[in-house]
Amino acid sequence: MNHFEDRPGPSGEGELWCEDVRLAEIAEQVGTPVYVYSSATLRRHYQVFRDALRQALGPDRDILIAYAVKANANLSVIKTLSDLGAGADTVSEGEIRRALAAGVPADRVIFSGVGKTDAELAFALSVGVAEINIESESELERLGQIAARLNRRPAVAIRVNPDVGAGGHAKITTGKADSKFGVSLMEAKRLYRRASTHANLNAVGLACHIGSQISDLTPLESAFVTMREMARDLRAEGFPVSRLDLGGGLGAPYADAPDPPSPADYAAMVARVFAKFDVNLAFEPGRMLVANAGVLLTRVITRHDRPEGRKFVVVDAGMNDLLRPSLYDAYHAIRPVRQGNGAPLEAFDVVGPICETGDIFAKDRSLPNLGEGDLVAMLSAGAYGASMGSEYNARPLAAEVLVQGARFAVIRRRPTYEDMLARETLADFL
Ligand code: LLP
Repeated sequence: MNHFEDRPGPSGEGELWCEDVRLAEIAEQVGTPVYVYSSATLRRHYQVFRDALRQALGPDRDILIAYAVKANANLSVIKTLSDLGAGADTVSEGEIRRALAAGVPADRVIFSGVGKTDAELAFALSVGVAEINIESESELERLGQIAARLNRRPAVAIRVNPDVGAGGHAKITTGKADSKFGVSLMEAKRLYRRASTHANLNAVGLACHIGSQISDLTPLESAFVTMREMARDLRAEGFPVSRLDLGGGLGAPYADAPDPPSPADYAAMVARVFAKFDVNLAFEPGRMLVANAGVLLTRVITRHDRPEGRKFVVVDAGMNDLLRPSLYDAYHAIRPVRQGNGAPLEAFDVVGPICETGDIFAKDRSLPNLGEGDLVAMLSAGAYGASMGSEYNARPLAAEVLVQGARFAVIRRRPTYEDMLARETLADFL
């Protein structure tokens, strides 16, 4: 469920609103392309997930919901979730800094990631993050040395690669043995023992994350059972494994895909796996919290009807603003902001202005007759949209707007060309 819906506009014709604000109004005031997020939807998604876990796992289970900041790293988005109690799952110093700046307490920040530099590890230690997820032996040794130098003893979890493949696309599957993430089960046990005996490391648990846009609970369940059994084995050796970090990955309802498992079904599965196993649990949801809380609003620059038949609609957003269709062949529902009162549908290719054939959002998409200047919304773009944006073709990053009720605020302004040029320096030998 989300808070983007059709309501009558000033002329009486139906048009798309975000909560109590007309998208057309935002486009007029802020310009396009612009990402628009609904705070009511963000809050609702978090609450549904939290309540489902709480209900299934009972009041006594210690749980941490650490929002995966990579899905949407805007400070106001993070703050909307952290105000409800969310922690943050981060994968870089930049993301840790964003989480802290948005008000997430350091002791609710998890630092994950396959390649953390010495400087990033030292930063994480200096601010006192809750947990560092270790992905290799060399990282474990490096962290141990840095912690010794800084006189710290961070809580660490070992990221296990349970060799379970899952996810909506090969490029977002992380849990197979040949992927770069985590260590094998055997290796994880060895590293756990090593971390447990290290004077400057505090081994607290195991972590996993097997993929993203997962539409079936079976692979998640099998990964969680593997984690539980590993924790059981380690406890039998005398190590008090107190925390399991179950990662993120639950899919969001995109228009072309079957509905993903509900938070209630997911929570019931988790409760089943850990029913008789007392352990603190951490979750790292990203996409399911933010995907349907955002749209990318864009305007038709030009319409190009080839005499041979193909009809192109060139919009002012490009693959630099929303990379998912180009990179993963991802489907985003596209619709004109104004309903158009039953105009007949035609097949359009909706493309961006970038000089790449791959800069295409949809091929042969049935849409009502679109003309120059029309506003178009790309739906379910709140996750991995703005956060994967770039300035390719020297295009300014899209602006971002947050709506709450009848109010809206620009939460990231579009950079000016002066801003963009000012970051560079002409080499003095030129
Ligand atoms: N935890 C870890 C360690 C992760 O690597 C990820 C996502 C998450 C949590 C959050 O997963 P989620 O709940 O959002 O599925 N750019 C791609 C998705 C990449 C996901 C990377 N890792 C896309 O646009 O589909």
